[in-house]
Amino acid sequence: MSIPDHVAIIMDGNGRWARERMMPRYYGHRAGVKALKQIVKYAGDIGIRMLTVYAFSTENWKRPAQEVKSLMQLMEQVFSVELDELAANGVRVRIIGDRGTVSPKQQRIWEIAEERTKDNDRLLLNVAFNYGGRMEIVSAARAIAEAVVLGRLKPQDITEELFTQYLYTKGLDDPDLIIRTGGELRISNFLLWQGAYSEWYFTDTLWPDFGIEEFEKALASFRQRERRFGGISDK
Ligand code: IPE
Ligand code: IPE
Ligand code: MG
Repeated sequence: MSIPDHVAIIMDGNGRWARERMMPRYYGHRAGVKALKQIVKYAGDIGIRMLTVYAFSTENWKRPAQEVKSLMQLMEQVFSVELDELAANGVRVRIIGDRGTVSPKQQRIWEIAEERTKDNDRLLLNVAFNYGGRMEIVSAARAIAEAVVLGRLKPQDITEELFTQYLYTKGLDDPDLIIRTGGELRISNFLLWQGAYSEWYFTDTLWPDFGIEEFEKALASFRQRERRFGGISDK
């Protein structure tokens, strides 16, 4: 096993990074974007096919209005300023999350980013924004229930494969490796379904400090793992 096909990252620790510098949290989020740019570029260079990053959770709306606002503005800015470079680097962008509860302006920005990069195939970058694993599963269940009511599906048609088709990540392979920075040892509602058999890597490094060296450490750790998926060792 060399390079994971699909890496997912919980980019945590921006606020603490800013606090250590006696700066507002927004400053940490901005530094986090810089770190992300570097990782996206490197992931494409070393042949990772999919990168999924957790940028804003359905629970992050609980933060002070000012922080939420600054995160929304930052997201809009990143999608407009960075889009040319992403497109030129062969990155295809996809947003995973609930689109119904963000502003029409944001929905439009996401549509433009997806449309503009849709023919790229070097690296698929999934941005989990307004994403929650429970919400994703509930919305899949709701759509399936509607299909059953309309007579398009029968209850016995509902299999794991079918369910997967109703998730935001439809068509994507499950993540092989999930990295969480910032020292917390929890899933925080990220990829609950898709992460069933992912390998995890936790580091205390705060996201803005996460660079290529740290990324390589995570990949090296992944190479040491023996994935069994419930089977037995073949060694
Ligand atoms: C992660 O950093 C970024 C988002 C959740 C948007 P945090 O903002 O959670 O930073 P800490 O965990 O408070 O340090
Ligand atoms: C997870 O980080 C969400 C993102 C990185 C976008 P949080 O900082 O929101 O998670 P908790 O609250 O520590 O679990
Ligand atoms: Mg956090």
